[in-house]
Parts: sequence; structure tokens; C-alpha cells
Amino acid sequence: MTLSQLSLEARQVDPSLPLLEVDQLVMHYKIKAGSVSAVDNVTFTLHQGEAIGLVGESGCGKTSVALSLLRLLPQNAQHISGEIRLNGENLLWLSAEEMRQRRWKDIAMVFQGAMNSWNPVYRVGDQIREALDTHYRGVMTYAEQRAHMEKLFAAVGLPADMLDRYPHEFSGGMRQRAVIAMALSCGPQLIIADEPTTALDVIVQDQILKELKRIQADLGMSIVYISHDIAVIAEVTDSLGVMYAGNLVEYGPTADVFARPRHPYAYLLLRSTPSITGPRRKLAPLQGEPPDLLNPPTGCRFHPRCPFATERCAVENPPLEDIGGGHKVACWHWDQVPELEGLQR
Ligand SMILES: Nc1ncnc2c1ncn2[C@@H]1O[C@H](COP(=O)(O)OP(=O)(O)OP(=O)(O)O)[C@@H](O)[C@H]1O
Ligand SMILES: [Mg+2]
Repeated sequence: MTLSQLSLEARQVDPSLPLLEVDQLVMHYKIKAGSVSAVDNVTFTLHQGEAIGLVGESGCGKTSVALSLLRLLPQNAQHISGEIRLNGENLLWLSAEEMRQRRWKDIAMVFQGAMNSWNPVYRVGDQIREALDTHYRGVMTYAEQRAHMEKLFAAVGLPADMLDRYPHEFSGGMRQRAVIAMALSCGPQLIIADEPTTALDVIVQDQILKELKRIQADLGMSIVYISHDIAVIAEVTDSLGVMYAGNLVEYGPTADVFARPRHPYAYLLLRSTPSITGPRRKLAPLQGEPPDLLNPPTGCRFHPRCPFATERCAVENPPLEDIGGGHKVACWHWDQVPELEGLQR
């Protein structure tokens, strides 16, 4: 079974056209103690058919960006400013109903931890059918839905009869494949996959990422991958964004960011990550902790942990600037960051 046999149409992709443009996005969570600055001035563009990765330590705002894109934030969250344009349309201006119509059909999400959120008392197929019903009520007959779901399952490498099984009968990897099938069910242009393979062992992780990559190419989709594991998503993305404490501190073609990180945080993150495919290098743990976003540091938010910081860094927040070839860095001292190659053993 190939994906071209799916009733989901493969899209014509023009990689020069922007699909998703996130422009100076600022989002806070209100809590009793004040305002948590979870997303601060995040800007990036995803083109048709492209895959972007967002990486960073726990709590740096990756899920907050993802939930902003779908406008599925918790009650206490508030978009302060910025734009999220999908095909030129600002999602933040849409009514709740208009946004609801775009979810799943245009943008689908694989939620962090979703493989554990299947309802245990319903068959997996019935749960996917419910998603189809929401958007295609009366459009597909029961039999057509079944045929569609079987194709979706085949696409993610699951046998059709698993549709009639309960979640506990699935292994972890199978449950995550079913989550991906669910995300694909309405033929979205864009999938946001938040830690899609984190809970899985490396072999299953690798299989699922390769399959997602193939599905993405076959269907002409774009993907935002979110992970704390820079090495994992470097393999499946065209561009890479590194987040720190709510800021996007580095962003550019994956090969450039991965081979030659220019932001001290990205550099230290990579130095602390073992590489399976790249050259052997000495690992160095990343010292310190990310800041409390209730009271983020002034200036560059990374300055208290940064070995290159100067007085200026504590006062002025550096803008994200292009240093050539679409490689962007928000650091006053990016040109002092050493080469990773120099660390080879
Ligand atoms: N509902 C909420 N109310 C208040 N603060 C929140 C809420 N959700 C998240 N936060 C805070 O916002 C910041 C960003 O959290 P977020 O979940 O986006 O990070 P993340 O990068 O996805 O982390 P992880 O890798 O652990 O999934 C954190 O400081 C977190 O504590
Ligand atoms: Mg998260």
C-alpha cells in the first residue's frame, strides 16, 4: 500500500511559498504570582513541504508555541502580540468557530504524551471515526470511513484489524503510530508533532520518524517537530530553531545550525548531546538551570549562564539577526563562539 492510493490527495508543493509565518509572537500565562513569559518574540517561517524542528530544554516554551499555533492554550494564557499566519491568514484574528474549522483539516497536532491519552474503553478505530465525524459528518458513509481508516493505518504501518482493538492491546510504538494516523485523518497541510517519539525506544523512534518523513513527502505536508533532543530532529528537519526561556535564540538551515551553532546556548546544548552519526567529540554537560519565567533575566535571558556574557548582555536583549544564508542568531557575541569541530577527540 502506498500513500498515493489514499483518498487523501497529495498536495502540489511550492517550497518557495510560505505556509506558516510566526511573527514576533508573545504569549504569557497569568498565575497568582504574576505573569509567566512563556513565549517571547518568536519569529520563524515554514515553507510548503518543509519540516522545521524546535528544540530546547524542558520549560523553554516549545509546547506553548505549538498550542499557540492551534489556539488551544489553557484559560490562563493570553496572546499579547504578534501574528500567526497560515497561508497569509492571521489565525489570531479568526473567531473561535473559524479556528475550529481549521483545526485537524488544515493544522493537526500530535500532542505531547498523546499516546497515553487514548480512551481505554473505546476501540481505537471508533476514536478516529469520531474525529472524522466532527469534520466530515454526512460526507463519508460508515463504510467509506472504515476504508479511509484502513488506508491511514496502512500508511503508518499498522494492520487494519488493529482498528477494532482497544488501546491496551497496542504497544507504545503502535499507539503512537495510531496517534499519527489520527492526525493525518483529515488531510492537514501542516502537522505539529510535539515530542512524537520521546517515550519510545531508539529503534522504534527511528522507524516512526522515518515513516513520518516519507508520509510528509508523499502527501506534500509540512511539519513542525518539537523535541528536547536536538540530534533526533536534526535528522528529519530542513530548518532548526533553538529556544531558550521563551526566546528563539538561533534559527536556520538544520545542517548549518547543527554543524556550526553560533548561539552560546545552542553550542553548549550540542556539546552536551552525544552524536550517533557525526564525528566523535568530547561531551560537556550544560551547567545551571533555565530561569524562572515569572521573573526572566533582563537583557539576554541566557546571560546568567553564558560564558561569553558581557555587561551589555545583562541590559540589552539581542535581536535575531541573519548572519548569512538564512542562519539567524540572537547574540551580541556570536562571532566568539568556537567551532564544534575543534572539540573532536
Ligand atoms: N498553564 C500554565 N500556567 C502557567 N505556566 C505555565 C502553564 N503551562 C506552561 N507554563 C510555563 O510556561 C513555560 C513554558 O512551558 P512549556 O510547556 O511550553 O515548555 P516546553 O518547552 O514544552 O517544556 P517540556 O520540554 O517540558 O515539554 C514553563 O515555565 C512552564 O512552567
Ligand atoms: Mg512541552
